[in-house]
Formats: sequence, structure tokens, C-alpha cells
Amino acid sequence: MKRHIKSQVYWVGKKDWELTSFHGDEYSTHKGSSYNSFLIQEEKTVLIDTVWAPFAKDFVANLEQEIDLASIDYIIANHAEVDHSGALPELMQRIPDVPIYCTANGVKSLRGHYHQDWNFKTVKTGDTLDIGNGKQLVFIEAPMLHWPDSMFTYLTGDSILFSNDAFGQHYASEHLFNDQVDQEELFQEAIKYYANILTPFSPLVTKKIKEVLALEVPVDMIATSHGIIWRENPTQIVEKYLEWADQYQENRISLIYDTMWGGTRRLAEAIAEGIHNADPQVDVRLFNSAKRDKNDIMTEIFASKAIMLGSPTINKGILTSTAAIIEEAKGLKFRGKQAAAFGPYGWSGESVSILNKALEDSGFKLVNDGLKTLWEPDEAILDTARNFGKEFVAALEKG
Ligand code: FEO
Repeated sequence: MKRHIKSQVYWVGKKDWELTSFHGDEYSTHKGSSYNSFLIQEEKTVLIDTVWAPFAKDFVANLEQEIDLASIDYIIANHAEVDHSGALPELMQRIPDVPIYCTANGVKSLRGHYHQDWNFKTVKTGDTLDIGNGKQLVFIEAPMLHWPDSMFTYLTGDSILFSNDAFGQHYASEHLFNDQVDQEELFQEAIKYYANILTPFSPLVTKKIKEVLALEVPVDMIATSHGIIWRENPTQIVEKYLEWADQYQENRISLIYDTMWGGTRRLAEAIAEGIHNADPQVDVRLFNSAKRDKNDIMTEIFASKAIMLGSPTINKGILTSTAAIIEEAKGLKFRGKQAAAFGPYGWSGESVSILNKALEDSGFKLVNDGLKTLWEPDEAILDTARNFGKEFVAALEKG
């Protein structure tokens, strides 16, 4: 059933309560997700985005219960990624001539995915489409937020910004709007989404938001393509994005490690004790990278002013879960964060130098040479680790 959003605008998407991972298995979705599609029924009938392919048949069948598919005048494809375009092949079989409005890169992506020569209409920033009753759709290209083809669509009169992935959250709820859901859950999923998907594009986020704000158009609602729609104080998420895009950090230090027989864990705990004793205000947190969720750890790094990465040496290398963490962090291009490495060894002892290089290559600023300790930590080594934590805090204060 379509659900009313505002005036003649309806939600016709899919809530996906079962989703546990997104982008294959790259992004954990503890709270499910939704694929938001919108139907505008003014003089013209417009469909904005669709849903992920597994739900294509249901999507088209549900839509057909609401409207005659032949009455759709325009389809807007704000983004070609399959979670939003996945029902197009099913839909276009039924209405093959209906124009699909998207960016030039959108045409390339949609052709690349589906190898169909649909009736594409290419749009650029500032282009408009009249939908009757004095209302227009205004298109705003948003390249690399987060794909080259991404764009926003603004509905005049109702002042709704259809922002696609931007401002979204992987968050299933039977509610549609931000004022109806648990705020802590909502913002946790929003920051996780930003940290894991948008961080690499932060400079572009700032630039695009400023460009949109400069238009000085009213925004009554931000209708994202995942999760809930922002209607109560909708620009609060825009303000959050400006904050998050500006090398966001809290007074937090995250210690991320993996351990074979507990030596690296004991070092991590002693370092954390040293950090806490040196600065009781700092929120120091420990994560075993083999036991904790990778995307949750990325969100913790995103919110940290500094991190430490720990691994014992194994086969002249590091444990694979720490290698995966730093590889993921490298891609996300965190900026303005300080770091250090630690790890015990028995004979060859390469882990700390490998971690140091990986941290530097990933854009973290090393504050020291790291802590490398021989064999299982005894009380003297644990004292050294406590002191390492204390000195790390002092170095950060200088940094
Ligand atoms: Fe929700 Fe970039 O797709």
C-alpha cells in the first residue's frame, strides 16, 4: 500500500527487516534497511527511484494496485546503484517508452547494469521538469555522493528534497518519519552510514551542501532513499553532515587489536589504563577486531581523535583481522586522526613496523614509534604499556 508523505507525494518503497548485510557482505545492517521509492501524483505522475531487484516483482505488483502503470509519465533515477534501480527491468518491460530522467553518468551506469536502451533523458544541475499544478522538479547533480551518477531532485511547492543515499540510514522502521523513531538508534545508523559510505567524499559533501544552501530554497522534508524521512527540523541532518564532513572527532581514543594468546589484549588493557589515568575525561574504548563488527569499528574510528592498532607478529606479519581493519580504514580516507601501534613478539617482531607503515599509508599521523614488547607481558611490561598510554595522551595534547 502506498503511504502518504505530503500533498500528492506517497512512499511506495520496501522495508527490508531481514537485511543483515549490504553491498554484499561489506556493510553490516544490524537494523535492516529500506529502499524508498516515491510516487508523485500531480497533473503528471512521477516515480522517483525503485527498489532492490529481489523485491522487483512485489514492487511492480504493489504499484499496479495503486495506479495504472501506463499513467506514469516520468521516472526519475536519482542513482543507478542496484538497490534503487533494481526494479527498473521489471517495470520497463511493462512501460518501455516512459522517459527515465537521470544524469549523463546515470545513463552510463544504468546501461552498464542492465544493457537496455531505455528512453533516457539526461539532466544537469538546474534543469527542471514541470509536473503540473504549478509544481516543478529541479535536478541537482551530486557526483561522488556517493557515485558519479548520483543526483538530488527537489520538488517545488512541497519543498521536498529527494536526496537518495545522502542523509540516509540503514534502518528499517514501520514509521516513515524522523520524529517517530528512537533518536539514539536513528543517529547511530546515520553516523554509521556516513562513516562507512561518505567519509572518503567529505570535501565534496561540504561543497555540495553549501551549494544547495546557497540556493536559499525552503526545505520542508528530506526524503532519503534509505531509512526514515527527515520532516521534523529536517536540516538537523544537514548540520550533522557539515560537522561530520569537517574531520569529525570526539574526545575518544579507540584501541583496536587482535590477539593469539592474550598478550596483545593485556597490552591493550594496560595502555587503556594508562590513557584513562592520564586523562579521565577521554573516552577510551577497546575493540578486538576479530570479534567486533568491522563497520561498527569504522564508526568508532570516525568518532575518535586517535586510535591505536595492535597485533602480535605472526609469520613475519600481522593478524588478518587487523590487516582487514587498516585496509578498510585506508579506503575511507580518515583525516586529522593520530595513531600509534603496539604488539608483542617472540622472535622476529615485525608487527609494529608493519602497523606503523599501514597507519601512515592510511592517513593517520603517528605520534611515536610504537610499543614493541618481547614474549608474554609481565608486570614490568604492563607498567611500560601503562606508561606508553600516558605518554600517548601527552603527545596528543602537544599535537
Ligand atoms: Fe543506496 Fe548508493 O545506493
